[in-house]
Amino acid sequence: MDYLQINGGKELSGEVTISGAKNAALPIIAATILSDNEVILTNLPNVVDIRTLLNLLTMLGGSVEHNATVAKVNNGSITSTKAVYEIVSQMRASILVLGPLLARFGECEVSLPGGCAIGQRPIDLHLKALESMGATIEIKSGYVHAMAPNGLKGARIIFDKITVGGTENIVMAAALAEGTTTIINAAKEPEVVQLCEMIAEAGVKITGIGSNELTIEGTNKKPLQFKPLEIIPDRIEAGTYLCAGAITHSTITLNKVNPQHIRASTEKLESMGCTFDIDKDSMTIYPPKELKPVNLITIEYPGFPTDMQAQFMAVAVMSKGESLIEERLFENRFMHVSELNRLGADIWLKSNTAAVKGVEKLYGADIMATDLRASSALVLAALVAEGTTNVHRIYHLDRGYDDLEGKLSALGADIVRKKV
Ligand code: UD1
Repeated sequence: MDYLQINGGKELSGEVTISGAKNAALPIIAATILSDNEVILTNLPNVVDIRTLLNLLTMLGGSVEHNATVAKVNNGSITSTKAVYEIVSQMRASILVLGPLLARFGECEVSLPGGCAIGQRPIDLHLKALESMGATIEIKSGYVHAMAPNGLKGARIIFDKITVGGTENIVMAAALAEGTTTIINAAKEPEVVQLCEMIAEAGVKITGIGSNELTIEGTNKKPLQFKPLEIIPDRIEAGTYLCAGAITHSTITLNKVNPQHIRASTEKLESMGCTFDIDKDSMTIYPPKELKPVNLITIEYPGFPTDMQAQFMAVAVMSKGESLIEERLFENRFMHVSELNRLGADIWLKSNTAAVKGVEKLYGADIMATDLRASSALVLAALVAEGTTNVHRIYHLDRGYDDLEGKLSALGADIVRKKV
């Protein structure tokens, strides 16, 4: 199994190009099921999760040509509507095929994703919303079996909780439903916005894009024709490199980034003493010599993203003072705490809040990645830890970070991938 070996203490400098957003690309790849024609996607991140979902489309009978950042997908040839356990268990986001498969074929079976390291992550809201659109849902032998033989019908859906994946699934389902669907308490993350824009560009009337209330007028099962689409920049990858700059006190420039999408992170970094030069699609971070502590609460967009919580905790560890970090979205998203403490951090956890006392120094050790974003927090801490840190189980990182070690090496970090 691969691991990353990092010798800490190197100053970083230079420029890094941000890849396409994994969390935008995944629903967009799922949305290609709404079409029976070729769809061309560019600026895909070269990460495992993308390959997993494209692989699922191939298993369903779709035709996929994929080369690093570009995919040509044609789902005109789909013959199966069963998303099997072997794929869904590798990646929870496979549940995103549920809405489009059901809407286009009137029936599908998708393995239940189950829990994961960061919490229970139920899909009850996805299922309840599809039921209100007329679907019959049965859960049997670990699979969700959804049926709507006469097609889905537009409905008024009020999500009890804001759900990114739930909103995406229902937007896709509503696109081919009969009549108008209204989603109240919809997610408005940039990734949801790009999915809505893609579907609207294909001729589906959607109002309220980027707000908490979406109205979608379905095509009554008529498949969509999508234009070639370039995936938006990854705001979480961008935020992670800003944290790399902050923690190592290094000036770094990010290219191909959307500064608007990462305002929650830049505002927190500003409160820690960092300054920025911001252009339309690039930005440079200038960290202070001594970082101030930070208080943050994770919440839905445009609030502070849960996917940046672990990375900010790593930065807070190296700040002067005490930070409070409250996680409101995923009950168990603190697996990085004990690993950061192994490096010498002083983090105290109570319920969903972590109190982080800044320390002068961290010391290299063997540590273990537990989930995707926690893994990048460990790499950030290792960049400043004295001596050598080995970060194990980096298959988590490979799911969502495009060439992390290559990009950090190019910035001057001493980081190599090793095989056991
Ligand atoms: C997506 C992102 C993930 C990010 C998360 C929150 C993708 C592929 N993943 O995950 O990186 O951390 O948004 O920004 O885009 N919930 C329910 N019932 C449901 C659905 C969700 O209770 O049916 C709860 C979840 O347990 C969680 C909260 O709602 O507490 C938000 O989850 P959700 O927005 O659905 O996250 P994902 O779409 O899975």
